[in-house]
Amino acid sequence: MERQVGIIGAGISGLLACKYVLEMGFNPIVFEAKPSVYQVVFVILCVGRFSDVPNIPVFPLNQGPEVFDGKVVHSMHYSSMDDIDAAKFIEGKRVTVVGIQKSALDIATECTMVNGVENPCTVLYRNAHWSIPHYFPWGVPLALLYFNRFAELMIHKPGEGFMLYLLATLLSPLRWLQSKFVESYLKWKLHLKKYNMIPKQSFNKDAFSCTIAITPDNFFDRVEEGSIILKKSATFSFCKNGLMIEGDIAPLETDVVILATGYKGDEKLKNIFVSSTFQKYIFGASNTTVPLYR
Ligand SMILES: Cc1cc2nc3c(=O)[nH]c(=O)nc-3n(C[C@H](O)[C@H](O)[C@H](O)COP(=O)(O)OP(=O)(O)OC[C@H]3O[C@@H](n4cnc5c(N)ncnc54)[C@H](O)[C@@H]3O)c2cc1C
Ligand SMILES: NC(=O)c1ccc[n+]([C@@H]2O[C@H](COP(=O)([O-])OP(=O)(O)OC[C@H]3O[C@@H](n4cnc5c(N)ncnc54)[C@H](OP(=O)(O)O)[C@@H]3O)[C@@H](O)[C@H]2O)c1
Repeated sequence: MERQVGIIGAGISGLLACKYVLEMGFNPIVFEAKPSVYQVVFVILCVGRFSDVPNIPVFPLNQGPEVFDGKVVHSMHYSSMDDIDAAKFIEGKRVTVVGIQKSALDIATECTMVNGVENPCTVLYRNAHWSIPHYFPWGVPLALLYFNRFAELMIHKPGEGFMLYLLATLLSPLRWLQSKFVESYLKWKLHLKKYNMIPKQSFNKDAFSCTIAITPDNFFDRVEEGSIILKKSATFSFCKNGLMIEGDIAPLETDVVILATGYKGDEKLKNIFVSSTFQKYIFGASNTTVPLYR
C-alpha cells in the first residue's frame, strides 16, 4: 500500500521535508492553501514560526499604543513594506525600535541609512544577547566552532542514550572553554563593555537556544557615531509623545515605534488544530515551549 505523508506548508522547510520524504519512499502530499481530505500515515507541519502571529507586548490600560500620538507597527508589517514605502515611513522621524534580535538590528541599521545622525534611531531592549559579526577572525568563521557535528556531541539532547549522555558530560569542560573563548573575543572586538552590552547569560546558552543574531555590518560603528542609541530598560509604556522608560522622569520622545518583539510561533502551531486534543499533542502544558523539532 502506498504510504502517504501530509506536509503542511510549502515554504523552504516544507519543500525540503518533501524531498526527504520522497527519498524515504513515502508519497508526500503538500498542503499549501486548498482544503482537501487525505488519509495520511503522519503529518509534518512546516507552517513557519516567524510569520503571521506577531508577539505584541501587553500594557496596562492607558499605557499602551492607544495613548500615543505617533505610529506603532510590528516588524512584520514594516518588513512587508517595499523599500520606498519603508524609507518614507521612517524618513526624518525619531524612530524607536523595541527588541535587540535580528529584526531589531536590521531595522535600526536601515534607519541609519535613511536618517543618519540627524535623527538617531533608539534601540530599546531589556536583555542583551550575544551577536556575531560577519567577519572571520584569523580567516575562520566563528560559527564553525560551535555549529558543527562535533560541537553537537557536546550538548545534552532530549531522549539521548547513555553513550551520548556520557560523551556530552565528559566534553562539558571543553564546551565551557569554547564559550568563554568566544565571549572574550566578542567583548574585545565589539567593545561590549563600553556599550553596557555584555549579556548576563553565557554565549553557549544563547547559541543553543537560537538567541544569537548576526550583527549587521558596521552596527557598532553606527552606535559610535551616534546614529543608533542603545537604551536598556526592563519595561516601558507609552505616553502621548513617546515612551516612558523605567527610571527616567522625562519621556523618550518618539514619532515611530517599531516593535521588533518577535513572533508567537507556539500559538500559530496550536491554532492550526480545531481539536483541543491535537492542540495538546503539539503544545503540551501551558508552561512548556514547543521545540523546533519534535
Ligand atoms: C523578517 C525576516 C527575515 C528573515 N530572514 C532570514 C534569512 O535571511 N535567512 C534565514 O535563514 N532565515 C531568515 N528568516 C527566518 C525564516 O523565517 C526562515 O528561515 C524560513 O522562512 C523558514 O522557512 P519555513 O519553511 O519553516 O517557513 P515559512 O517560510 O514561513 O513557510 C511556511 C509556509 O507555510 C504556509 N502555511 C502557513 N500556515 C498554513 C496552513 N495552516 N495551511 C497550509 N499552509 C500554511 C505559508 O503560506 C508558507 O508558505 C527571516 C525571518 C523573518 C521574520
Ligand atoms: N536577515 C535575517 O536573517 C533575519 C531578519 C529578521 C529576522 N530573522 C529571523 O527571524 C526570527 C525572529 O527574529 P526577530 O528578531 O523578529 O524576533 P526574536 O528573535 O524573537 O526577538 C525578539 C526581541 O524582542 C524582545 N521582546 C519580546 N517581547 C518583548 C517585550 N514585551 N518587551 C520588550 N522586548 C521584548 C526580545 O527580548 P528578550 O530577549 O528580552 O525576550 C528580543 O530582543 C529569528 O529566527 C531571526 O533569525 C532573520
